[in-house]
Amino acid sequence: MLSFSGDPFQSDLDTVMHYESDGLVWLEDGRIKQVGPAVQLLRQLPAGMEPVDYRDCLILPGFIDCHTHYPQLQVIGAFGEQLIDWLNRYAYVTEQAFGDPECAHEAARIFLRETLRAGTTTAAVYCTVHSASVDSFFEESERLNMRNIAGKLLMDRNAPEPLLDSPQRGYDESKALINKWHGRGRQLYAITPRFAATSSAEQMEMAGALWSEHPGTYLQSHIAENRDEMTWVKQLYPERADYLDVYEHYGLLGPRAIYGHGIHLTESELQRCYETGTGIAHCPTSNFFLGSGCFDLGNAKRSSRPVRVGLASDVGAGTSLSMLQTLNEAYKAAQFNGFPLNPAQAFYLATRGSAEALYLEERIGGIAPGMEADLLVLDLHSTPLIEYRMRHAGDLMEALFIQMTLADERATRATYLAGSLVYERD
Ligand code: GUN
Ligand code: ZN
Repeated sequence: MLSFSGDPFQSDLDTVMHYESDGLVWLEDGRIKQVGPAVQLLRQLPAGMEPVDYRDCLILPGFIDCHTHYPQLQVIGAFGEQLIDWLNRYAYVTEQAFGDPECAHEAARIFLRETLRAGTTTAAVYCTVHSASVDSFFEESERLNMRNIAGKLLMDRNAPEPLLDSPQRGYDESKALINKWHGRGRQLYAITPRFAATSSAEQMEMAGALWSEHPGTYLQSHIAENRDEMTWVKQLYPERADYLDVYEHYGLLGPRAIYGHGIHLTESELQRCYETGTGIAHCPTSNFFLGSGCFDLGNAKRSSRPVRVGLASDVGAGTSLSMLQTLNEAYKAAQFNGFPLNPAQAFYLATRGSAEALYLEERIGGIAPGMEADLLVLDLHSTPLIEYRMRHAGDLMEALFIQMTLADERATRATYLAGSLVYERD
């Protein structure tokens, strides 16, 4: 069993990493009641309580994907374009169908099934501009008792007409969805202006108003992903000092604000992310797939001003829902910037790191008494190649690195949500 109680980018591993070679997790009423070495805890279990034996597997907190688009699962792996052309040719076409609740329901069901199969137990999710797409997502999420964050896109310009709302309509529909879903069971709402290029100044202002009127809700958007996108945003908001200042001006930074990508943020912008507590969702498979660039994780996490960075799939520009495969690419992005992401930092990033970026680390992303019992049981020998490679693994760190390099959904032996088994591989 492995989990983190702090950030290994900043602190000594001994103080923040918790590993049990033969661990037991005692679940009760959807939460973790006790955790520790099996030899000790077994003696405390009430008569008749039989533990499930996951010998040779690793128990982890469920992975947390802090930026993804469920409707875009229909266009994952779409050929040939970089961001703006990719949006026009693929994302904006597929998203138009999501006013139809039947289409939205099917996509939400498949997306969440695949998410659990990947061992991910929480995601921050973009729906489409249609309220129906949000209802469908939360209905499926609620049925699973899954802690998810989601919201309706706000977009009132520079996209096909059927995908546009207006500042007032976006405000009214988002408000109704917040009242319906935010804090209902495990569901949390994110006000979701798609990015500065598809929202007018009026819409950005109303997004800021909405967020300040509903404390505890989230704010998610995109920033500094692609060079052409950045030039465009500069043209659209010429009076703003930089990309982050566009969002800052409308009151869209702070705790529970999380921005996808941030590849090309300047030092001053990273500094303001740190100061305001704004999170960045690192989306390496998407960044490579769209040719957007290489996020400098080591720099973002610099101990003089550590930004809250979480790990994200960004499907459908991202190419996998597996956080293990996402870590595989995160390692390569970091290597490209001269920073060797170690396996402890990597597994932290996919669990507690994402939880911290979402200000949920008291509830999820760890294995400790009182936390919500969202767990992943990882098979450490999930393919013949991994089985062979593991025979030559010297220690825990090497075993973890093998998993994040070679493993994927097939390694998910079981997934638990709030103490209930919701996915079992065999
Ligand atoms: N920027 C604005 N919208 C999107 C989107 O749907 N995907 C990605 N990767 N970037 C975006
Ligand atoms: Zn995205």
